Amino acid sequence: MAGRLAGRLVLVTGAGSGIGCATALRAAAEGADIAAVDLAPDGLERLVDDVRRLGRRAEARQADVSDADAITAAVGELARELGPLHVAFANAGTLTRRTTLTELDLDEWNRVIAVDLTGVVLTFRAALANFHPDGGLLLACGSSLALRPGTGLLPYVAAKAGVHAVARSLALELAPRGIRVNVIAPGLTETPMTRGMDGHIERGLESVPLGRLVELSDVAALAVHLMTDEARSVTGSVFPVDAGRTAV
Ligand SMILES: NC(=O)c1ccc[n+]([C@@H]2O[C@H](COP(=O)([O-])OP(=O)(O)OC[C@H]3O[C@@H](n4cnc5c(N)ncnc54)[C@H](O)[C@@H]3O)[C@@H](O)[C@H]2O)c1
Repeated sequence: MAGRLAGRLVLVTGAGSGIGCATALRAAAEGADIAAVDLAPDGLERLVDDVRRLGRRAEARQADVSDADAITAAVGELARELGPLHVAFANAGTLTRRTTLTELDLDEWNRVIAVDLTGVVLTFRAALANFHPDGGLLLACGSSLALRPGTGLLPYVAAKAGVHAVARSLALELAPRGIRVNVIAPGLTETPMTRGMDGHIERGLESVPLGRLVELSDVAALAVHLMTDEARSVTGSVFPVDAGRTAV
C-alpha cells in the first residue's frame, strides 16, 4: 500500500464541498481511508464514490457539527465501521453576511459561533473518543481573517480566532497522548462559500499581495502534509496559506 497516509483513517467534516472535499480526496490519494461528515447529502455521495474509485475505503454520515448528539453519534458510527481515527480535520464552516456592530443580529452571531467554533470543539471531542492509541492529528480550519480581520464579519472572525486559540491550548493538553493539534488558515479561496456572497471575492482580492485566489489544491496540500509523519514535530501552530494576505 503506497502513500504517506497508507493505513490511516482520516475524518473530514464539511467533506462534501470545497476545501474539505479536496483535502479528503488528496488524503485518499496518499493512501488514507476517509470518514466523511457533512450537513448536505449530495457532495458526500460523490466524495464516497470518488474515494472508492481511488481504491480506498470511505463511509459518510450527514450531521450538523453544532449538534453535540448528532456529531458524536456520526463519528462513533464511522469509527465502528472503519476503525480508530488517526486524523480529524474539523473543516465544516459557514460564512456570515456583512454587518456593522450596531446592526449585528444576535441570532446570526450565535449561529456562526455554534458552527464555526463550537462545531470544531464538538468534532474534536467526538474524534478523541474514537482515536487510535498511537495518537495522531487534530486539524482545524481557521482563517486568515482571524489573523487580519478587516471589517464587517464579526461572528466569523471571532469564531475563527477562537479556533486558533482552542487548537493551541489542546496541543498542550493532548501532547502527552501523542496527539498533535494544528490549524490551517486559508486566505481567499474560491469555493461555494465565497462565491455565494456578492462581491466577497472582488473585495477580498484587493488585499492579496499575490493578486490571485488560493486554489483548493494549495490548501489540501498543506493539510495533507500536516497529517503525515513528515510533520511529526509540528504541533500548536497556525499555518496561513493565503497568497500573502496576512504578510501586510
Ligand atoms: N473559501 C475561503 O476563502 C476560506 C477562507 C478561509 C477559511 N475557510 C474555511 O474553510 C472551511 C471550508 O469552507 P469552504 O470554503 O470549502 O466552503 P464550502 O461551502 O465549499 O464547504 C463548507 C462545507 O461545510 C458544510 N457545513 C456547513 N455547515 C455545516 C454544519 N453545521 N455541519 C456540517 N457541515 C456543515 C457545508 O455543507 C459544506 O459542504 C470553512 O471552515 C471556512 O470557514 C474558507
